[in-house]
Amino acid sequence: MCAMVSSSAIAQTLDSVITFNNGVLKNKWTASNRFRIQKLDSVSAYSNGGFEKKWKTSSCRIVMAAVAPITPRDVMKGKPLRKTGNNVGGNGKDTRTWPSQQQIETIRSLDSWAEEAILPLLKPVEKCWQPQDLLPNSSTDTFMDEVLELKQRASHLPDDYLVCLVGDMITEEALPTYQSVFNTFEGVRDTTGASPTPWGVWVRAWTAEENRHGDLLSRYLYLSGRVDMKMVEKTTQYLIGAGMEAHIDNSPYNGFIYTSFQERATFISHGNTARLAKEHGDSQLATICGMIASDERRHEIAYTRIVSKLFEVDPNGAMLAFAEMMRKKITMPAHLMFDGENSNLFEDYATVAQRCKVYTAKDYTDIMEHLIGVWKVEKLRDLSSEALQAQQFVCSLPSRMRKLSERAHDRVNNCSTQAEQRNKAFSWIFHKPVML
Ligand SMILES: [Fe+2]
Ligand SMILES: [Fe+2]
Repeated sequence: MCAMVSSSAIAQTLDSVITFNNGVLKNKWTASNRFRIQKLDSVSAYSNGGFEKKWKTSSCRIVMAAVAPITPRDVMKGKPLRKTGNNVGGNGKDTRTWPSQQQIETIRSLDSWAEEAILPLLKPVEKCWQPQDLLPNSSTDTFMDEVLELKQRASHLPDDYLVCLVGDMITEEALPTYQSVFNTFEGVRDTTGASPTPWGVWVRAWTAEENRHGDLLSRYLYLSGRVDMKMVEKTTQYLIGAGMEAHIDNSPYNGFIYTSFQERATFISHGNTARLAKEHGDSQLATICGMIASDERRHEIAYTRIVSKLFEVDPNGAMLAFAEMMRKKITMPAHLMFDGENSNLFEDYATVAQRCKVYTAKDYTDIMEHLIGVWKVEKLRDLSSEALQAQQFVCSLPSRMRKLSERAHDRVNNCSTQAEQRNKAFSWIFHKPVML
C-alpha cells in the first residue's frame, strides 16, 4: 500500500518523530541514516515503514534517497529488492564518507601481520570435529537405537529451552548472510571468491568452520523429534532472504568490532545452552553446545586480536569506531527473523533467552566491559580531542547500562510477582505456549 503525504507532515530532521497524516508511520528515522531532510515536497510511504521514492526540494535538488530495510514481511510478499541502498545518494552517486581512505590503507598495511597473527587461529580441517562425530551414524546397524537414546534424552528438555536452542540454531544457519556482510568490509573483503589474501583466506575458512555449527544443531533437533522442523526451516529461509542490518557502513574497523562482540555473544550463548542441557539431563547435547562454544571463543580471540592491532596502529580511528558501534548498539544477527506467522518472533525469542539466562542484557554489558578491558581502552593516552571524548563515552557506558538493565530486571521481577507475564505460542515447537 502506498500513501502520498504532504511535506507539512514530515519532520525536518531524521532523528525527529515522523507522523503522517494517515497515522501510518512514526519514529522511522534515526541520525545514523546520515541524511538531512530539507523541505521535501512529498514522499511515498508504505505501511511496512519503508520509503520507496526520492523527491526533490523546491529548488529541484534531490536531497534524499534513503530507504527502509527489506523486512521479512517484504520477502514473504515477494517484494523486489531496491536498486538503491543506504550508501547511495539521490543523485545516484556514492555518498559515503566512511570508511576513510586512511582506515582502508591501515587495514591493507596489516596483510602480513594477519598472515602471522590471525591465520594460525584457524584449525586445520583434519583436526576439526564434524557434526557426524557427535550424532548417530546412519550407516551403522545401531543407528536406530542411538536415535531412540537421543530422543529419550531430549524428551526432558523444557519447551523454553528448545525455543532458545532453535533460535540459536537458526542464527547459525543464516551463515550466508554473515559471509556477505564480512565481504562489505572495505580493504579486507574477498574480491574474487577465492582471493589469496590473508583476509580472503580467513573469511572463507571462518565461514567453513561456522558452517558446522548450524549443521550440527539442525541435525540434532531433527532427530530429537521435539521441534516442527518445517517451521524451523521456513524461518531460516526467511531470515537468509531478509539479511541483516549490522550498521557497519563498509568500515573494516566497525566490522571487526562488531564481529568481536558477536563471537563473544555466541560463545556465551552456546556455553549457557551447554550448561542448561547438562542440568536437564542431556549430556550429549551439552557436549554439542560446548564444542560449538569453543569454536566461537577461538573466533573471538581472532577478531579481538585484529581490533587490538588497530588500537595499536591507529588508536584515534579505532577509538572513534568503537564509540560509533556502541552508540548504534550491536544488533543481533538474526534480528530480522520471521516464521511466516509471528512478526515479533525475534523479540519473543530474545525475551525467552533472557528469562532462561541463555543470553541477557547483563551479558551485553559484560561483553562491552570485557572488550574495553581487552583493548585497554581506559589506558589509551595522547588521543585527539574527538577520540578522547569517544574514550570517555565508551568507558562510562557499562556502568550506565548496568543501571538500566538492573531497572529492567526489577520490572520483570515485579511483573512476575504480579502474575503479569504473558505466554506466547512458538510455531517451532508446534505452537505450544512458552512464558515470555
Ligand atoms: Fe557459530
Ligand atoms: Fe564464530
